[in-house]
Amino acid sequence: MTVRAGREFLAIPGPTTMPDEVLQAMHRPALDIYSAEMVELTESLLRDLSKLFSTKGNSYIYIANGHGAWEATLSNVLSRGDKVLVLESGRFAIGWGLAASAMGAEVEVLKGDWRRAIRPAEVEERLRRDKEHAIKAILAVQVDTASGAYNDIEAIGKAIKASGHPALFMVDTVASLGCMPFEMDAWGIDVAMSGSQKGLMTPPGLGFVAANARAQEVHKCANLRTPYWDWTERGGTEHYRKYAGTAPVHLLFALRKAIDMLTAEGLENAHLRHRLLAEAVRRAVAVWAEGQVLGFNITEPSERSNTVTTVTMNGHDPAALQRYCKEKCGVVLGTGIGDLQGQAFRIAHMGHVNAPMILGTLGVVEVALNALGIPHGKGGTEAAIEWLGESVGAD
Ligand SMILES: Cc1ncc(COP(=O)(O)O)c(C=O)c1O
Repeated sequence: MTVRAGREFLAIPGPTTMPDEVLQAMHRPALDIYSAEMVELTESLLRDLSKLFSTKGNSYIYIANGHGAWEATLSNVLSRGDKVLVLESGRFAIGWGLAASAMGAEVEVLKGDWRRAIRPAEVEERLRRDKEHAIKAILAVQVDTASGAYNDIEAIGKAIKASGHPALFMVDTVASLGCMPFEMDAWGIDVAMSGSQKGLMTPPGLGFVAANARAQEVHKCANLRTPYWDWTERGGTEHYRKYAGTAPVHLLFALRKAIDMLTAEGLENAHLRHRLLAEAVRRAVAVWAEGQVLGFNITEPSERSNTVTTVTMNGHDPAALQRYCKEKCGVVLGTGIGDLQGQAFRIAHMGHVNAPMILGTLGVVEVALNALGIPHGKGGTEAAIEWLGESVGAD
């Protein structure tokens, strides 16, 4: 017996649920890519992406996933043999560093931990030791989607500034842009990147990069530049060059609609919605954890992301829980990946999410915990309901 008729609900951290309006925005004929309408669409999106990143710098749109956007950032500012410092807090900054290494950079990892966020003081200390300024760029993620860590990018930016080190600060916002505050200029970030398929509620396939004036200056001498990624190629007046070829017209229609929806909601409201729904998930997990099997991967509460919660399972198989949720109830949870493979599952709460989606997911997890006889504290979903009742307000 199953109770899974109807639409399957993706509670994975990307690609996320797309609003019907975004899907419908793509259901139309292509544009003439040389038309004024096309130019206006591109200009409006580049303008709005810079607003989302909170920068006066330029934004670029690539037909690429996050891995492509990583390459875009690296190829535009690095030269062969440049040293890059990767700040570990899980899987994804390491992945960015691997790309840098494959492209010819020398990569050093500032050792972190899968169970905690980056420590700004450790960054400052490492940079102070680099008296020759061999390090040319520092790579960090705002949210590590695998560990569930939230890094305090503002504090890391301050630590870099305090060290007096001139390296470019480059930040991955793939799992946070549109969901959590990000202030590229105010926090001292030189290059930021993101992707379409998580908080931005758009199909996978677009990668975004923003670069400030300092990064543009370094770009002039970077020798890893290649034509597709190149900011100079894309920065001219010819529209066709802005995508280094044919524009991904339908994905752009989708992105336009998604950003319009975020704007209509208000970015601050979207951030607050994510914070409240994330806390609802955490309230439930905290209660379940009383059974001594489930727990938070990130030990320090203030370092837990508002977009994804990584839940560890001690001595029980997360795959069985995930299978039950999907096959019996139609809710797809995220798998534990990297160091947490086979030891954790993830509940995503990013992008086009609302209270029924979150409470439904939590309720289904609780059904599965009961059905599979996995020890857990009783009343997790109830705690989430209570939290939302207290915090959403009656006015
Ligand atoms: C934080 C982060 N950065 C980068 C990536 C890579 O993005 P993509 O899978 O679109 O290449 C991901 C993917 O989940 C991610 O979560």
